[in-house]
Amino acid sequence: MMVARQTEAIRVRGLEKSYKALHVLRGVDFEVARGSIFALLGSNGAGKTTVVKILSTLLKADAGTASVDGWDVATRPADVRESISLTGQFAAVDEILSGRENLVLVARLRHVKQPGKIADDLLARFSLTDAGARKVSTYSGGMRRRLDIAMSLIGNPPVIFLDEPTTGLDPEARVEVWAAVRELAARGTTVLLTTQYLEEAEQLADRIAILHKGRIIVNGTLAELKRLLPPAEVEYVEKQPSLEDVFLAIVGAGKEESGR
Ligand SMILES: Nc1ncnc2c1ncn2[C@@H]1O[C@H](COP(=O)(O)OP(=O)(O)O)[C@@H](O)[C@H]1O
Ligand SMILES: [Mg+2]
Repeated sequence: MMVARQTEAIRVRGLEKSYKALHVLRGVDFEVARGSIFALLGSNGAGKTTVVKILSTLLKADAGTASVDGWDVATRPADVRESISLTGQFAAVDEILSGRENLVLVARLRHVKQPGKIADDLLARFSLTDAGARKVSTYSGGMRRRLDIAMSLIGNPPVIFLDEPTTGLDPEARVEVWAAVRELAARGTTVLLTTQYLEEAEQLADRIAILHKGRIIVNGTLAELKRLLPPAEVEYVEKQPSLEDVFLAIVGAGKEESGR
C-alpha cells in the first residue's frame, strides 16, 4: 500500500501560463514541505489564483510541471483532487442552512462516516459550537470563512489551498481566520495560502514566496527575507524591517517611474 513518495507536498517547476497575449506565469518554481504553511504573496493580478487553479487541476499549464502529494497534476488529476481541498476567495457556504447543517451536508456528499460527529468536532475546533445551530446568514464574515475552512477539512485532505482567505474581512475577523489556519497546520495539514497582505504572510507562513511579473522573485523564511534588506536602511529605520519593507526594497528596486 505504501509507495515511495517524494518528501515535498507540492513541487512546481517552470510553470508557464498565458491568457491569450497575457503571459501571466513565466516560469514559476517552488516547493512546499509537508505539514508546513507556505504563503504565495503577490499584488492583485500577480497570478496567485492562476497557480492555485493549476495545482488544483482546474486549469492546465502551458509549460512546466507540478505535483501535489506526489501526484502529477497533468497526468494524475483525479489523484490530485482526492488529496486536496480548495477554499476560494468567495465562501461556498449555504446561507439558508445552519453552520452544522452545512458541515453535515458536505460530510454526506463526501461519504464520510458519522457526519454528525464530524460536524460537531469541526464546530468545536473552529470555535463555532455556540453558533452551530444558527443560519449562516446571521454569521459575521470571519465566522463564514472559518466555517468554509472547516468544510474544506472534511475527509482529511493532506493538502489545503486557501486562496486569499482573509480578503474583504475586517481586522478582527482576520485574526480569527489566522487562528483557524494555524489550527489546520497544527494537525499536520500542508497549507498553501495566497495573500496580498504582507502581514498575513508574516503572521502565518513558515516560508514566503513573492510572485512578481510571472516569477518567484524571493523565496525564504521570514528571517531570510528580512536579511535581504540593505543593512544601511535597517540602521536608518532603527527597527526590525517588516515584510512590507522587504517587498518594497525588492520590487521597488525595478521601478524607474517612482522617481526615488
Ligand atoms: N480566464 C482569464 N482570462 C483572461 N485573463 C485572465 C483570466 N484569469 C485571470 N486573468 C488575468 O491574469 C492575471 C492574473 O490573474 P490571477 O491569477 O487571478 O491573479 P491574482 O490571483 O494574483 O490576483 C490578471 O491580469 C487577470 O486579469
Ligand atoms: Mg486571486
